Amino acid sequence: MQETENLQKKLTGWFEWFHRHPELSYEEYHTTEKIREILTQGGIRILPYELETGLVAIVEGEKPGPVQALRCDIDALPVKEETDLPYRSECPGKMHACGHDFHIAAGLGCAILLSGHKSELAGTVKLIFQPGEETSLGALKILETDVMEDVELIWGIHADPTNEVGTLGIREGYVAAAADRFVITVTGQGCHGAHPDDGIDPVPAAAAIVQGLWTVTARNINAFHPALISVTRMQAGQTWNVIPESAELEGTVRTMNREDRALFERRMREIAGGTAAAYGARASVEWLPGSPAVYNDERLAGKSMRVARECGFSVVPEESSMGGDDFSFYEERIPGCYIKIGTGKGPTIHQPAFRVDKRAILPAAEYLVRLLMSPSDPAGQS
Ligand code: NI
Repeated sequence: MQETENLQKKLTGWFEWFHRHPELSYEEYHTTEKIREILTQGGIRILPYELETGLVAIVEGEKPGPVQALRCDIDALPVKEETDLPYRSECPGKMHACGHDFHIAAGLGCAILLSGHKSELAGTVKLIFQPGEETSLGALKILETDVMEDVELIWGIHADPTNEVGTLGIREGYVAAAADRFVITVTGQGCHGAHPDDGIDPVPAAAAIVQGLWTVTARNINAFHPALISVTRMQAGQTWNVIPESAELEGTVRTMNREDRALFERRMREIAGGTAAAYGARASVEWLPGSPAVYNDERLAGKSMRVARECGFSVVPEESSMGGDDFSFYEERIPGCYIKIGTGKGPTIHQPAFRVDKRAILPAAEYLVRLLMSPSDPAGQS
């Protein structure tokens, strides 16, 4: 009992430290050092990868079993914190507004508890403290190493401000979207604003392309498949009396399945090219793939729900999100499951008033330990 209280105190203290010291993607130097210090003091081995930020720790069980990984992301956001918490951000304009400080604390708690149960642990657990999740490409830094080579399955967690402490959101199948970016350049021919007949105005062509792109979800994608496009930037020209040479459109496409993702890219090229041509202009499309959709493996989702109930959590269906998470890059290699942990209802993630209820930390760590130590469910059962 005393031991549990001590751990709770430590985890809360660490969580507050990370919350006070948020660092942006790929700048998580102090965060990484603090994680390293805590793990080292806890007698936990850190693998000798030369990562600029982030690290991978390992706990080896004394019984034979699988190699599993747990991903905890560690970066913060360029958000100005607007809470009255006594441990609010001490770094102006930066905030742990996505709960990654909670992920770190839960991951550290899990590592410490696991290393105290090595004799009962079957197999090995690699704890990945990952940088740069908010860029949606940080997972690739970890995947550049050989850390995943022997890993058979991976678990991911995320703070969930839509559920109370004691509730876990889990579902099988797609839970977060592929997050791709595009830039379309429409080229016409600049001329005097008073003589559009002397040139080719790229502005109406760009406007027509935006209208056309919106029809992809309505006319090309299966109505039962979640998909969306947001054109978030339209830019053309410098002044009031010159028709510009070119116009630029930028934005994001979110899809849940692979076929729709490819379909969207193909239709974007057709619509942009065809529409521009109809206006006498030209369009080039740059498609910049981000992270794929996050997919919860059926067996792992089933197991995580079973263990959650054994631990006294109430389990609710995980809300699918058109947001992305680079956790999916790991899942391109091995099965994974991404679990939402209730951290108290309140402002949603990425908001300046977002906060995590500290009472969620220790139960999350204990749940992860139980999950990592439970034998796999036999095939066909979940
Ligand atoms: Ni996040």
